[in-house]
Amino acid sequence: MTQHFIVIGNPIAHSKSPEIHSLFGAQAGLDISYQRQYCPDDAASFTAVIEAFFHGGGVGANVTVPFKQVAYECCAARGGLSEHAKVAGAVNTLLLNPTLLTKGVSPAEALYGDNTDGQGLVNHTKRLDWSLQGARVAIIGAGGAARGVVLPLIEAGIGELTISNRTLSKATNLVNELSHASPAINDKQIQTCRTVDLSGEFDIIINATSIGLSGETLPLADQLNCHYAYDMMYGRELPFLQHFAARGAQVSDGYGMLIGQAALSFERWTGHVIDVVQATETLQAQ
Ligand code: ATR
Repeated sequence: MTQHFIVIGNPIAHSKSPEIHSLFGAQAGLDISYQRQYCPDDAASFTAVIEAFFHGGGVGANVTVPFKQVAYECCAARGGLSEHAKVAGAVNTLLLNPTLLTKGVSPAEALYGDNTDGQGLVNHTKRLDWSLQGARVAIIGAGGAARGVVLPLIEAGIGELTISNRTLSKATNLVNELSHASPAINDKQIQTCRTVDLSGEFDIIINATSIGLSGETLPLADQLNCHYAYDMMYGRELPFLQHFAARGAQVSDGYGMLIGQAALSFERWTGHVIDVVQATETLQAQ
């Protein structure tokens, strides 16, 4: 029997998720259908669409911009949240809580939220052979994308973490909030600074800002260096990566993170572990 999945967002036409998950389905030998689902940009519409999908037998859904926080609120009030979703304050993967279903709870009330974005990035750095153990890491940006990667990076064993942002108060607020949300984060002394003041030598610098969408470039100090530079954006020219590549760093865009988070969602829904290296090669060849 066909298993049904969707990715819900606004806009959604550009989403690569159907191609990625169709490939995963073929690799796992499963009969799946994975569709793009447009939704008007309001919480009531989101809830109605999601309820209808799961009521109709849907197995899992990915959530993308602008609904990740709405999905978080929805699951917090219903079937629950994973630790990663709780700390991220955002959900990118929806499923039904099986324990609640066996107790006779309706699908709408059993909605459960996970967040695989940050772990997708961590898994990609492993595939790149960039060691996170003990690494000195700097994240640039203090929005939702930055928030989602902090706990997975700490769980991966990084040594030191600095969060820099154009608006310093957002970085300090983020660290305060995250420290309250997770003992593992609270144990870490996270430094904050303005992006223009970020300087020194890091193992990895991660661009988690949305600047790539604007065509502007980040004001980076001349004394800022790293071995590895990672931009969570993909599919466009990334001046951040060009800057560090010119200084001899190894660089990567976020395409591998996209596939990595998708593979973890797929695993969550179906129990099948995806060969991400093979899937990436096939997708890049297409
Ligand atoms: P996302 O969910 O993608 O993280 P967001 O929550 O809107 O989006 O956060 C965007 C991040 O990119 C913020 O850290 C923002 O910096 P500010 O907090 O100072 O706004 C950063 N950002 C966006 N445009 C930027 C720019 N032109 N220069 C520097 N930082 C920028």
